[in-house]
Amino acid sequence: MTLQTIKTPGDTSWFVKDRFGMFIHWGLYALPARHEWVKQIEQIPDSIYDKYFKHFDPDLYDPDLWAKAASNAGMKYLVVTSKHHEGFCLWDSALTDYKATNTPYGKDLLQPMINAYRTQNMKVGFYHSLIDWHHPHFIVDNVHSMRNSPDRDKMNEGRDQSKYTEYLHGQVKELLTQFGKIDILWFDFSYPNPENDPYIGKGRTDWKSEELYKIVRDLQPNIILNDRLDLDEGWDIKTPEQFQPREWVKVNGQPVVWEACQTFSGSWGYHRDESFWKSVEQLIQMLIDTVSKGGNLLLNVGPTGRGEFDARALDRLEGMGKWMKQHSRSIYGCTQAPDGFTAPPDCRFTWNPDKKRLYLHVFSWPIGQIHLDNFAGKVEYAQLLNDASEIRMSDIPAHQVVHEGEMHNTLTLNLPVVKPNVTVPVIELFMK
Ligand code: GLC
Repeated sequence: MTLQTIKTPGDTSWFVKDRFGMFIHWGLYALPARHEWVKQIEQIPDSIYDKYFKHFDPDLYDPDLWAKAASNAGMKYLVVTSKHHEGFCLWDSALTDYKATNTPYGKDLLQPMINAYRTQNMKVGFYHSLIDWHHPHFIVDNVHSMRNSPDRDKMNEGRDQSKYTEYLHGQVKELLTQFGKIDILWFDFSYPNPENDPYIGKGRTDWKSEELYKIVRDLQPNIILNDRLDLDEGWDIKTPEQFQPREWVKVNGQPVVWEACQTFSGSWGYHRDESFWKSVEQLIQMLIDTVSKGGNLLLNVGPTGRGEFDARALDRLEGMGKWMKQHSRSIYGCTQAPDGFTAPPDCRFTWNPDKKRLYLHVFSWPIGQIHLDNFAGKVEYAQLLNDASEIRMSDIPAHQVVHEGEMHNTLTLNLPVVKPNVTVPVIELFMK
């Protein structure tokens, strides 16, 4: 039996088949190029942070190139930051001046991006920050960039959080009415506190999450909504961030639709000096590992201030695309293997329930054989996925049984000595 997730209001039917999406974090923080939280980390006041607004001019921005790079990598959907915590908006919002059209670049960045990704047949969605370190009515709390300012109390005197909330709701209405069908909405993030004190943290009372939720479902009933509005119900996906869950993500013991969001190097925004980039092999293994546990992978790119994906990002996307070209059928439409199919050491299974094919992803190439316990008599045919070359199967040879003690209804796959020339070899098992 394949695991069944609980039913939620949004349409996740395409999502659990597509499995692989691109996250984009793009804003003024691409200029300091040292973390999208730079304003908060370095406690930069608006008067200084303003230099990035004045110099934001991504003259090389060509969203067609981005969308092609994503599609060639095998990605099937986009989630882009309409606004991040710094408050800067990529689209021409009627509710603020703090937007791309008022920078030296002078044009809307969002609509062309949406168009480009749709042209590649990708689904599109927005990440929209609940937090806003620029809005004059957002109460300066303990997470705010001005949290340690001697003027903090004075700053807060004239602030009315409900005015910010009105702005937040208004912008969400814009995003859900001006760009056609939106497939995903990703709010980020809530950090409630027991006293419901907006000077300490913020959650459902501050965002008026229930009202916001109604707006969202009213305007885009089938949209997939993430889980960071601080509401117990109504969300469609759980979003573990920057770690790989050990098993299918569950809520109250029930498996749910989930999506791991991951970075290439730690920061979400463009970071010039970060050196610990994950390798192509690690990223492919991450994607496989996610699908083997019934999840999706949302992998982030932080474009530069000139409007490009940098060479390191392009290298990773190309490497993943090369692998996906030959192996995507072990990803799309796949999920966790049914109970009782336990992957051997250094391997992951993914399973296509419609085709009844099991994919054995081999992370470390062994010598000669892989033994699959409890598989005897269950597999009709086996092949390497990259070149459709047959993998011969046998029961464990008698002389080996003598050394290994009892048999476990084992099916043995006989492998070539040399690892196939692909980043992660996959053996496709056609089940009887
Ligand atoms: C976080 C961070 C952030 C990033 C996000 C992605 O909560 O605030 O910068 O956008 O996670 O999941």
